[in-house]
Amino acid sequence: MKKFLTSFLAAALGIIAYAQTGPDVLIPKPVSAVLLSGEVGVDIPVKNVRASGKFKKAVRDLPEYARREAYKLTVSGGKATVEALSEEGYFRGRKTLEYMQLMAADGRLHSCEVFDYPRFSHRGLMFDISRHFRSKQFILKQLDLMSLIKMNSLHIHLTDDAGWRIQIDKYPRLTGYAAWRPQELWKDWDQGGHNYAEEGSAPAFGGYLTKDDIRDILAYAAERHINVIPEIELPGHSLEVLKAYPQLACLDSTGTQSVFTSDLCPGSDEALQMYKDILDEVLELFPSQFIHIGGDEAGKWSWRHCPRCQARMKEHGLKDVEELQSWFIKQFDDYLTSKGRRLLGWNEIMQGGLAPGATVMSWQGTVQGIEAAAAGHDVIMSPGNWCYLDRNQDNPLVEGELVGGYLPLARVYDYNPADGFDDTKHLLGLQGNLWTEHVPTEENFEYKTYPRAFALAEVGWTPQELRYFDEFRPRAVALADYIRTKGYNAFDLHTEMGERPEMSKALDHLARGCKVTYNLPYSNHYPAEGDETLTNGLQGGWSYVDGRWQGFLNDLDVTVDLGQKRHLGFVGAHFLANLGVWIGFPVKMQILGSDDGINFVEITQVLCQVKASDSGAMYLLLGDVVNADARYVRFKANRSGRLHEDWLFVDEIIIK
Ligand code: ACM
Ligand code: ZN
Repeated sequence: MKKFLTSFLAAALGIIAYAQTGPDVLIPKPVSAVLLSGEVGVDIPVKNVRASGKFKKAVRDLPEYARREAYKLTVSGGKATVEALSEEGYFRGRKTLEYMQLMAADGRLHSCEVFDYPRFSHRGLMFDISRHFRSKQFILKQLDLMSLIKMNSLHIHLTDDAGWRIQIDKYPRLTGYAAWRPQELWKDWDQGGHNYAEEGSAPAFGGYLTKDDIRDILAYAAERHINVIPEIELPGHSLEVLKAYPQLACLDSTGTQSVFTSDLCPGSDEALQMYKDILDEVLELFPSQFIHIGGDEAGKWSWRHCPRCQARMKEHGLKDVEELQSWFIKQFDDYLTSKGRRLLGWNEIMQGGLAPGATVMSWQGTVQGIEAAAAGHDVIMSPGNWCYLDRNQDNPLVEGELVGGYLPLARVYDYNPADGFDDTKHLLGLQGNLWTEHVPTEENFEYKTYPRAFALAEVGWTPQELRYFDEFRPRAVALADYIRTKGYNAFDLHTEMGERPEMSKALDHLARGCKVTYNLPYSNHYPAEGDETLTNGLQGGWSYVDGRWQGFLNDLDVTVDLGQKRHLGFVGAHFLANLGVWIGFPVKMQILGSDDGINFVEITQVLCQVKASDSGAMYLLLGDVVNADARYVRFKANRSGRLHEDWLFVDEIIIK
């Protein structure tokens, strides 16, 4: 009666009436949850109990990893019990209870029974602490939250051009020099010539995790049943190592000068030995089966001329630099295998042939993971289009500095890692990656990670057929609201604007549907809808990769045929810029008219007064009010040549 009255009163007052907190608040959503009659207070005793015959039977046919994490939580009669077959299972069950307790604002829990186990064995996040260093304390704080949402893997990107972040005793220059730089912000360092600094000098920004820090992180993670995967990047993204140990760099073709790209010299025996030594110290610390060796984005240019690299290729009959990379990585696959570990690398390790024991982390797309799995390798999916948390989650005009790309919560949630796989037996799971070139602070780090990590957690745990975004979102809002009260700077979903409103509004104008001739081509990488893009009346969204924006790696030079001579009152084009990803606004745009498509006269010339920025995307209609007549209208926009030539991105030519 009391409950009825409360609900009735609440309804009468127009506020949401909810019963006691139950499993319907949980992220990830459990496999099965049943409400029992009655309720209990949040402060109830909880006990691990032996798995019943019924429980054992229910998990009997699950894959081994799922059986290990499976649990049954019963909340009833003033107490809670957890059944499981392993410590991990008991832990997950207790987290389910803890989650409901934390969310129970009214102090009451619904009596319930939750039976649960994960869809995938790998549910992870990657933190890049090279571009901007993050402390042990901050990492521990994230582990707390990861364990609440049943994530079980933290991959730490410990080394990259911008700073080495792990103590290695045998090579003290890695932390005495390569871990420090004169600029605090990655952006300033990147634009400032890629310099490093002596530890303790001024200015010297950065830092590293000591072995004691790492032991603390590992112990804390182990208590939470989270595996920590270290990444020691090779052969690319290694400028910091080359600057500390220049003998690891390639030589020029005369064999006398070091060449400082970001790539190690795979022809160098010293490089091989040094990385085996480094891995020895890493293996001593980290119990992880998987050891990530990077492998992405090596430019390989220096290898083509370096006498040591050339000699290596000749010695092993390697036909190109891809095979040289493959050979180099295979040395570490063999080494790690000999130590009872498994090599994990970004999908570029497939170039030139995948090492036999390697596991692939597919980031450039999904096809790489699908292909590696078909060839019998285990894979972890972290494709950029769904899993890159450095992309902006909402309106870039308020999100601040970012790399570009639009990845809202809904899109992350929409990801099904199994899509495209004929057989999922090699699909271990998924991982969200937070790269931090444009994530300078702890606050921004958390803002970008949460709540999108909640979506990844549910994608990784909950059966696909039980997932619905509309039903997930309120749970994500509630958890984000809750963690904000606990000092996590989660993005506030109450303020989410969603996709750029212009995207859903068609534009009507004289050029709509008219033929466009490309005097200079658009890039094959960003064709949008091909030749129709610029006059289809459709505007782009926040992101240059949404299929509405056409990209040019040269000037824009197109001619629109209006079909007949028309009077022109306005001519313009609509651009996107984001210097963070090398997309600029044009410097100027010349617009010409013609009756025959051969002889053109200038109608107007517009100078672009708006400066593109590297702190987010900007949108600009560049054009002019005119008074002219023409059938053919030609738009010539000069792209800017900043450090290198910027891209141009256009979604529509507008003629009125
Ligand atoms: C990567 O994003 N380069 C793995
Ligand atoms: Zn070399």
